[in-house]
Amino acid sequence: MEKRNISFELLVYNSREELEEKDSKLMEAAISARKKAYSPYSNFEVGAAILLGNGEVVQGNNQENACYPAGLCAERVAIYYAAAKYPHVPIVTIAISATSRNYVMDKPAAPCGNCRQSISEYEIKQKAPIAIIMTGETGEVLKCHSVSDILPLAFNSTFLG
Ligand code: THU
Repeated sequence: MEKRNISFELLVYNSREELEEKDSKLMEAAISARKKAYSPYSNFEVGAAILLGNGEVVQGNNQENACYPAGLCAERVAIYYAAAKYPHVPIVTIAISATSRNYVMDKPAAPCGNCRQSISEYEIKQKAPIAIIMTGETGEVLKCHSVSDILPLAFNSTFLG
């Protein structure tokens, strides 16, 4: 038996003001997308903004449904929109802003497992890492360099043979 440790570098910023300008701008786009979220059931608002290799920014937000599972997370709304509109342009960074209408979120929410898997698909397809930046309403901002950091041992197409 062998033990393997998996670790990754997580950048922790005290606030949005500490972000590099381009990341801060992208987060502003995520925040503006978040404000248009359709989340009457959870009261949880999420916005995602994707910076593409051609400099374009594509936004998405969570879309809920009375039939709960029919809804979709902000990250997947944004990434599918980006992939549909620019199938051959790499995705550089995804900024995610999450808040609740029920309480003050003082820490970031990391993307759910389904969204990590969806982002991972495009990271593998483009053979280049997709960075993720996360923020709540207040408090720390987190950044990782690649979705594989937060989805170790991901399922991928090689398993399909
Ligand atoms: N949600 C997202 O948009 N992204 C995530 O990564 C986690 C959850 C949305 C889905 C649903 O509309 C609400 O937040 C509560 O789960």
